Amino acid sequence: MKILGTGSALPKKVVTNDMLSEFLDTSDEWITTRTGIKTRHIITDERFEDLATEAAGRAIDAAGLCPDDIDYIVCSNVSNLFITPHLSSIIMGNLGMKGPLCPTMDVNAACVGFVQSLDVCDALLATGRAKHILLVAAEECTRFCDWTDRNCAVLFGDGAGAVVLGQGDSLVASKITTIPMPDVIVYQNPMEATPFETREGIDTHSALVMKGREVFRMAVTSAARDIASVTADAGLTLGDIDHFLLHQANLRINEAIRENLNQPQEKFPTNVQRFGNTSSASIPLLLDEGVREGKIRRGDTILMSAFGAGFVSGIVILKY
Ligand code: UT7
Repeated sequence: MKILGTGSALPKKVVTNDMLSEFLDTSDEWITTRTGIKTRHIITDERFEDLATEAAGRAIDAAGLCPDDIDYIVCSNVSNLFITPHLSSIIMGNLGMKGPLCPTMDVNAACVGFVQSLDVCDALLATGRAKHILLVAAEECTRFCDWTDRNCAVLFGDGAGAVVLGQGDSLVASKITTIPMPDVIVYQNPMEATPFETREGIDTHSALVMKGREVFRMAVTSAARDIASVTADAGLTLGDIDHFLLHQANLRINEAIRENLNQPQEKFPTNVQRFGNTSSASIPLLLDEGVREGKIRRGDTILMSAFGAGFVSGIVILKY
């Protein structure tokens, strides 16, 4: 696997903490000190799938390819109007691909979806199943939230990041783990009633609920433990890592991980202050920004680390 190009897209509407405090019992002071978040981009009149396609198109351009060069599309996505058809098939149509049309697949691994998809794509490329994979991570997290619940609504933002992957040996190491904990972060879809279902309460739709403190603790513990061990197992030291791209859920989580690893701040780019938690899109958004600003260069060693609902934890180390 090798990253050939990156791209991203954000909705145009920027919502500040002060704007939220107009209708929620919250404040810029609380949100900033507890999370680091100052603003987030939220979809208004855009279509989510267009945003995802925009990020995809930019990554294909950056790779110097055209849509018909793509022979596999993978989408990391949890928050989307359509359960079916899957987002990757919608993006394929939006890109105007003429064919021969290729496989499309969506991955739901919550905030770890992009990192886990990289691992899956590496296998697809290594076995020759694909030559050019478009991997898009696109999330409309703000549609999961109860906008009367200050515990969740202030945390999230919408966005999309994408990469085009080609054949190569850039993947240095990966580790994806799941601890089944179905109640730490939960969102239930509405389901249709049937005349046969007799259990009570199972189809009750609820907006996102989260055990924030538990997630916080598990995120810091799992990331610090796995980052150190995966790096060592790959024969590297933490000093060999040029950029730590951590899932952007809370600045305090990232700061705790960084302090635990005892690494300098400049190796830890952040976007949670501007974008909020964009779930699986947060890392490809960081990656694309770093590449466009010339901070991430060819040959750099990147470690990506994410955690999320499941509870899933994922690490990938690769050469850019
Ligand atoms: O992508 C993965 C998804 N999730 C996460 O990564 C979340 C990880 N967890 C966190 O980031 C933090 O736990 C939160 C930001 C969610 C919460 O921060 P906290 O420091 O753990 O606060 P808390 O939940 O313990 O709440 C402390 C207080 C409570 O009031 P009382 O009970 O002490 O009176 C909350 O009701 O803060 C209150 N509170 C708020 N106050 C003002 C909760 N949300 C807000 C708010 N504005 N938006």
